[in-house]
Amino acid sequence: MTRVLITGGAGYVGSVSASAFIEAGHDVVVLDDLTTGHRAAVPAGAVLHQGTYVDGDALARLLETEQIEAILHCAARSLVGESIREPARYFGENVAGGVALLDAARAAGVERVVFSSTAAVYGVPESTPIPEEAPLRPINPYGETKRAFESALAWYGRAYGMRSVSLRYFNVAGATEALGEDHQPETHLIPNVLRAADGGPELTVFGDDYPTPDGTCIRDYIHVSDLAQAHLLALAATAPDDSRTGEPLVCNLGNGGGFSVREVLSAAEAVTGRTVPFTVGGRRAGDPPVLVARSSRAAQILGWQPAQPSLEEMVGSAWDWRRAHPGGYGE
Ligand code: UFG
Repeated sequence: MTRVLITGGAGYVGSVSASAFIEAGHDVVVLDDLTTGHRAAVPAGAVLHQGTYVDGDALARLLETEQIEAILHCAARSLVGESIREPARYFGENVAGGVALLDAARAAGVERVVFSSTAAVYGVPESTPIPEEAPLRPINPYGETKRAFESALAWYGRAYGMRSVSLRYFNVAGATEALGEDHQPETHLIPNVLRAADGGPELTVFGDDYPTPDGTCIRDYIHVSDLAQAHLLALAATAPDDSRTGEPLVCNLGNGGGFSVREVLSAAEAVTGRTVPFTVGGRRAGDPPVLVARSSRAAQILGWQPAQPSLEEMVGSAWDWRRAHPGGYGE
């Protein structure tokens, strides 16, 4: 049992992870400023502190009073488009705030960190599936700030003995029975497809002239519950003396297969039994044609195997959550 602080634990990935950590017997403290997270998403059994990791002094006090042993750092600004318009916000929070978090951890003697990184660190890959050793050439401030934090974490590790795992998520999707995706605004494909199926605004497919079999972009979707399990395995790997984190560990998290936007649309029609109204619009800036992970490292080193790799399961669980929570978290 470990006492874990989950930053962003009221968000989509953070809340599902908090729930999995509690189920696995860990003590969970959530730090979330609730600007994009939801109080109602914090699972029963977790202690919620409303606040920000960017305030290093307050965070150091929190780590000490809560006797935190490890940090799962999920909180971040995470919208590609917004990051292009407001890089100051991204560098200020994700990088400067992230360094404040690392310094608070040092001050409080917390030496275990699991970090939510992203496939956006790769930019437009030379080939797919993308291995972790591929060059990091982010094409937007979001990916750049995640790369910068990964780098800080690695150097802090070598200098100060911090043990870390950076998990580069590909496209997170799906829901558990209780917890799902509720973003304002919603930019992600699957919730937008389901909203269209549910009588909401029709979907805009951002481009069908990509060099892919059906012309739409291909992404590697991974179930949010599988992601949470990877976090648990990563936490274990940061234990003192665990040789896997003698050097900072970086793992992709994907299924190693991809689905096009049109395939997601078809899966949603099959799952919902409804037609998804859509129009084809222009390309969205910064979208690489294909992003698929090589995720053998997570399997080999962490022992991670996705339990719900099928697109139908991901879309189906997101649909079930939407039907059960028509107003999202209602906040
Ligand atoms: N798409 C549409 N219409 C929509 C929304 C998305 O056609 O309304 C398309 C996008 O153009 C893209 C695909 O669906 O081709 C997936 O888009 P998402 O926005 O769902 O996901 P991204 O691949 O853009 O982004 C995800 C994460 C980012 C991360 C990125 C790379 O959400 O945080 O993967 O790792 F940066």
